Amino acid sequence: MKKYKVAVVGASGAVGREVLNTLASRQFPFESLRLFSSARSAGKAVQVGAADFELEELKDDESFKGLDVVFFTSGSSVSEKHAFRAAKAGALVIDNASVFRMRPDVPLVVPEVNGATLELARGTRVVANPNCTTAQMVMALKPLHDRFRVRRVILASYQAVSGKGQKGIDEFERQVKQYARGEKLTVEAFPHPIAFNALPHIDVFQGDGFTGEEQKVMNETRKILGDESIRVVATCVRVPVVNCHSESVTIETERPVTPEQAREALRSFPGVKLLDDPATNAYPLATNVSGKDDVYVGRIRRDPSLPDGAHGLTFWVVGDNLRKGAALNAVQIAEAAVQRGLI
Ligand SMILES: NC(=O)c1ccc[n+]([C@@H]2O[C@H](COP(=O)([O-])OP(=O)(O)OC[C@H]3O[C@@H](n4cnc5c(N)ncnc54)[C@H](OP(=O)(O)O)[C@@H]3O)[C@@H](O)[C@H]2O)c1
Repeated sequence: MKKYKVAVVGASGAVGREVLNTLASRQFPFESLRLFSSARSAGKAVQVGAADFELEELKDDESFKGLDVVFFTSGSSVSEKHAFRAAKAGALVIDNASVFRMRPDVPLVVPEVNGATLELARGTRVVANPNCTTAQMVMALKPLHDRFRVRRVILASYQAVSGKGQKGIDEFERQVKQYARGEKLTVEAFPHPIAFNALPHIDVFQGDGFTGEEQKVMNETRKILGDESIRVVATCVRVPVVNCHSESVTIETERPVTPEQAREALRSFPGVKLLDDPATNAYPLATNVSGKDDVYVGRIRRDPSLPDGAHGLTFWVVGDNLRKGAALNAVQIAEAAVQRGLI
């Protein structure tokens, strides 16, 4: 079996560590593995499977020579500076930052949903990994769109602190301890205290009143589903949950749909699990979905606010933002690229 020379940029971060765990657990065939971070973490050891690897500082003039695939998990400024340089040096780049996602020459890929668009990467050699909230939502939308044609999506998200990376998790844990000790909560990573709160503010406010996160969901959903006519509106909220984003999703459809037909469509879609039995209090929960690969859907019901109640539904979607929302999807892209002979 062919083996690949792999690098992870941002390997000490929340997503980067999860990429390493996923490469090991899915036995991605790597011949060598280079781990990059900033100077802050350089020199530290990181365990991947049974072996230890050392973090290297990513230098401005890093050549990326000889690498087959490079995962970027360091944020937009690092990707902006280095991703196309790595691609020019011959690697296939799988980028977790948002900076290239809407470029027409860069595919934005969720393999189960639009894996064929990976072919576009033969040109640029750069593939974008979607926003975490978008990735899990399109997993639920795709089988419904294929059968019932989704025309409109209304999203309210309840997003975990791990979506802000390691500093988000650290801030939440620190504030819970400060609260327990009766101290004032100190704020660094989020705009207000996140402990015992809900913040309708993720990413930066844009001129139209939406946040960057909300705009990403609205734009990326259309690109991934390959249908610019779908209308999407999002309100993204940060909640004091460590890991897993939860979403209330309401859709309008062109064709009539019943909850049972939707369950049937979702049940047979790879990567989606149905958990929808209100009689036994069974519905997806962040604490249960954390660490799982599948996206969970439940609470599927008719939308009685629609004129005939037949052309739409409302439901609840929970996914692990570090896994399907980031690392797992990125490694699945690498696996699909191997199958297509892109690396
Ligand atoms: N968290 C999520 O749920 C999620 C989901 C989808 C996409 N993403 C995206 O994934 C990326 C990483 O997010 P994260 O949550 O993992 O953040 P994070 O926990 O803060 O990790 C950031 C990583 O980038 C490294 N880094 C920072 N500056 C660098 C530089 N100048 N050169 C090289 N490496 C540098 C850090 O290294 P040090 O340890 O040295 O600081 C660390 O390894 C972001 O683009 C984010 O938008 C995140």
